[in-house]
Amino acid sequence: MANELTLEQKRQLFHDGYVVIRNAISQDLVDTARARIKAAKKGESLSPAPEITDLVNKSSVTPILQDAMGHFDPPSRGQVGIIKQSQPGDQFTPLGYRDKDLPYFGHTLHAEGLFTAPTPQEQLQGSPDDIYRQMLATCPTGDIGRSADVVGVNTDPLFQDPEMTLAVGSFTAFVIAALNDQSKEGCGQTAVVPGGHRVLTAFYKWQLEQGGIVGPEGPGWPRFNHDAPNRAGHVYLPQAVQDKLMSLNAEQPDTTPDGRAWPKPKQILMEPGDVAITLFQMPHTGTRNEYGTESRKNMIFRIRNKARQPNVVVTGVSDHPDRGQMGEWLDFEPGNDPWQKSKHALTNMWTEWEGMQDIVAQETPNLEPVEFGT
Ligand SMILES: [Fe+2]
Repeated sequence: MANELTLEQKRQLFHDGYVVIRNAISQDLVDTARARIKAAKKGESLSPAPEITDLVNKSSVTPILQDAMGHFDPPSRGQVGIIKQSQPGDQFTPLGYRDKDLPYFGHTLHAEGLFTAPTPQEQLQGSPDDIYRQMLATCPTGDIGRSADVVGVNTDPLFQDPEMTLAVGSFTAFVIAALNDQSKEGCGQTAVVPGGHRVLTAFYKWQLEQGGIVGPEGPGWPRFNHDAPNRAGHVYLPQAVQDKLMSLNAEQPDTTPDGRAWPKPKQILMEPGDVAITLFQMPHTGTRNEYGTESRKNMIFRIRNKARQPNVVVTGVSDHPDRGQMGEWLDFEPGNDPWQKSKHALTNMWTEWEGMQDIVAQETPNLEPVEFGT
């Protein structure tokens, strides 16, 4: 197994925002992880199980990522991303639409690191302000109003910083390790929009230049979509970003029954032992496992270049490591402004990819810049 990406793979990562490494994990490690999942007791969390974290810590993923990105904390936890087989359902999803009405296998295309409130299963009533208050009040933190202390059902804070200027948690790279056959579409694959990383980072940059909030509630990005059927859909990607993502694809996009078009994500087809690495900025989604012969098993790790915050240990599951897992406030030494650093990383997506600098320098001049607000 190679211990670094080839030049071609680095070029792919640069242009598409993700790369699939075939057989990055040995059959032995795959078998051991699968056996551990099979042996799990009901309700047991396998997140810290060595059989899961070994998929990164004892495979070629570690040297590959150290070469392309740089130093990082070996994950002590992973997200055990299991999607059971299911058919299109009636339930509302966080986008505020019924699962069966969303195209692309019930996609929930999103930017990573965003607050999510519980999904109302009936249409909410009242003004947009009323609905905003209701949504926050149903979170685990209770009815405390609009504040950076509000934490969603996905453990993401409403805002990262006390001043409420940053509404996106961030890290550097996703590692997605496949433990089952996902070589045919419709088996619950993780899906991404190739090239979408450049669009999202350009939007964050535009927001930062406007001043104010970066992320939802900032310029051009309302928190909720009150036109969704339950009147409280999360806006996981601003409309301007969705429009540009749709323009990347020559195919006509699919729509929900209300006529709204949605950007089409591409399913990442993998076999056991394959690994996808994506940039943090990549718009992505899980999908419905409609045709699989077993549950979809992707072990997902969230990796941050250690240089961002050398004194903070990143576990591998959190998408908001500037706060504790449940939104706790961390102590930073004077002069270390984590919000500033994270805004910089969000808007300069290659700075934390130390082994990509030659490719970035070579390839950037050939790119058509992505711009907003012009
Ligand atoms: Fe995500």
